[in-house]
Amino acid sequence: MHRFAAFFVTTVVLGSLTAAAQNSAPSQLAQTPPMGWNSWNYFAGRVTDQDIRHAADQLVATGMKDAGYVYVNIDDTWEGDRDANGVLHTNSKFPDMKALADYVHSKGLKLGIYSSPGPQTCAGYAASLDHEVQDAQLYASWGIDYLKYDLCSFRSAAMTAQAPSDKAEQMRLMIAAYEKMDKALKSTGRPIVYSFCQYGWDAVWEWGPSAGANLWRTTGDIQANWNSIYSILNEQAGLAKYAGPGHWNDPDMLEVGNGKLSLAENRTHFSMWAMLAAPLLAGNDLPNMKPEIHDILTNRDVIAIDQDPLGHEATRAYSDGEVDVWTRDLSGGARAIAVINAGSDRYSTHPFHLSLAKLGLSGPQKGKDLWTGKEITLTDDMPIEIASHDILLVRIPEPK
Ligand code: GLA
Repeated sequence: MHRFAAFFVTTVVLGSLTAAAQNSAPSQLAQTPPMGWNSWNYFAGRVTDQDIRHAADQLVATGMKDAGYVYVNIDDTWEGDRDANGVLHTNSKFPDMKALADYVHSKGLKLGIYSSPGPQTCAGYAASLDHEVQDAQLYASWGIDYLKYDLCSFRSAAMTAQAPSDKAEQMRLMIAAYEKMDKALKSTGRPIVYSFCQYGWDAVWEWGPSAGANLWRTTGDIQANWNSIYSILNEQAGLAKYAGPGHWNDPDMLEVGNGKLSLAENRTHFSMWAMLAAPLLAGNDLPNMKPEIHDILTNRDVIAIDQDPLGHEATRAYSDGEVDVWTRDLSGGARAIAVINAGSDRYSTHPFHLSLAKLGLSGPQKGKDLWTGKEITLTDDMPIEIASHDILLVRIPEPK
């Protein structure tokens, strides 16, 4: 065959194979939990185009991008009105979404956006009901890389309206709505991470992956206080088996650096979200980030736990009163162990005693304390003093 003809045939055949593979192959997106920043936890409804640009600038300037934070996600309140053709426009806070996407992409980052399967978003802005394909095409034309799809008004507008006294039918309608947007996103041909936000209803971890979810919220909204963080953490016990490359449990976005969380609480929150293979979406005021918060968010050893390629989420090994012990299997046979003190300070008078036997380990275990950066050897029944709401996080390369 003539060289040009061979090139042509190969290109065309490979081209159509690639297209076919794209339609049938499982998503290659989110092979590790997505990392980035989202506007909601700090800005809520006040977020503007400028805030998003500043967040992108700061991800680069602070080294967070190099540490893995690549998604810059606009949450609710960017939406304007639909025109006569049903095309959704942005509101005045976001004058030009395509230009914003270009700006974010020019920094080597990706842009995420937010909508709802109902007529309105949670904050009452226009959403995607009956405009799913049109909206997905619009996002793709802007260069959007991530969609958070938040149930909200779909409940009253569709679920309870169409099946007022049939809860199971309401759930089927909800699942169908998520599948509809999945099809619409896939039909654009653009890889767009698909994030379900329906607060964990109807055991979303069981049906989310087959409805196209790369991640799904497992809980109601997080708040920047210890009770919220600790109760969400406890709700994750038992969900490990549902997570893996491409599909992750989402215990909600990070509050690290927000509210009145103490340094210990920020550390424990970040450590445990990493143990849970959770998406690490920072939600703080990046331009005014304190150095100690930067140090938490960019701890490479802790991020490596979150991003471990095996994708095995931590399980709670045991609790002893107010102290919880979680473990996570890592690639290469390594293991991470987290010991959290959810109570008051433990002193040398009554320290916590770690049982290695309960973790299936015996003999001294050499590892690294990921917050001091120092070597540590764990021994059976060893006394551990942990301050209130603080954590000991250890990586053991060769557990025995
Ligand atoms: C819901 C979600 C939040 C946020 C808001 C926006 O409450 O759970 O994460 O997206 O809506 O209105």
